[in-house]
Amino acid sequence: MNRALRKAVIAGNWKMNKTPSETTALINEIKPLVASASCGVVVCVPYVDLQNALEATKGSNIEVGAENCHWKENGAYTGEISAVMLKEMGVKYVIIGHSERRQYFGETDVTVNMRVRAALDAGLTVILCVGELLEEREQGITFEVVSKQTKIALSGVSEEELKRIIVAYEPVWAIGTGRTATAEQANEVNAAIRSVIAGLYGAEAADGVTIQYGGSMNDQNADELLSQPDVDGGLIGGASLVASKFAAIVKAADR
Ligand code: PGA
Repeated sequence: MNRALRKAVIAGNWKMNKTPSETTALINEIKPLVASASCGVVVCVPYVDLQNALEATKGSNIEVGAENCHWKENGAYTGEISAVMLKEMGVKYVIIGHSERRQYFGETDVTVNMRVRAALDAGLTVILCVGELLEEREQGITFEVVSKQTKIALSGVSEEELKRIIVAYEPVWAIGTGRTATAEQANEVNAAIRSVIAGLYGAEAADGVTIQYGGSMNDQNADELLSQPDVDGGLIGGASLVASKFAAIVKAADR
């Protein structure tokens, strides 16, 4: 595996937090703290905060993402937002398949794949979330679960399009629980995901894919997690809402 082929990306997943004015304030706080970062820095914010996030990040090294998108370009889907709408705003990234969407909003591997396709077609970069439930880990089927999720999500995705896929391994039992995977557990599953991708696209293409870890990553454990050879950054929930903590994780990714 050649880590030099891929870029570390630290992405904040703000979830359902921050109003538009709070978004501007938090980004203004984060900006100077991450200005010299060499890793990619992304903030994924609620739809209604995107405009403020785009304005606040203008001219900075912070890029903006959404937290989901629909699989159709337009149509009778009350309350939904399409990838082309995000693209036209200037949004670059979109999280797809987050476990909270899978758990609370009926997201399936098939709808994840449909959303991935729509996002790629619109020109966005996808942060694709995969991860096992606690009972699946206890049953010893973690690799099977993430392998299936990854394969279905990437179905119909070309090798060229793979360059616009970031995978985030997020064990569901570690999200928002304060319980983090050990660095070894994170690295082991990230490496397994990379070998699934290698099986689909070849080792060289797989070596180029940024595979993040997510799940209670914070300023205290980031160094250890990010020092693993197959952990190429993080998708950060809670700690991304505190500028100093988010910036400390960005610094850890640069080390
Ligand atoms: P957490 O969330 O860092 O709060 O555990 C991570 C995520 O859900 O992306």
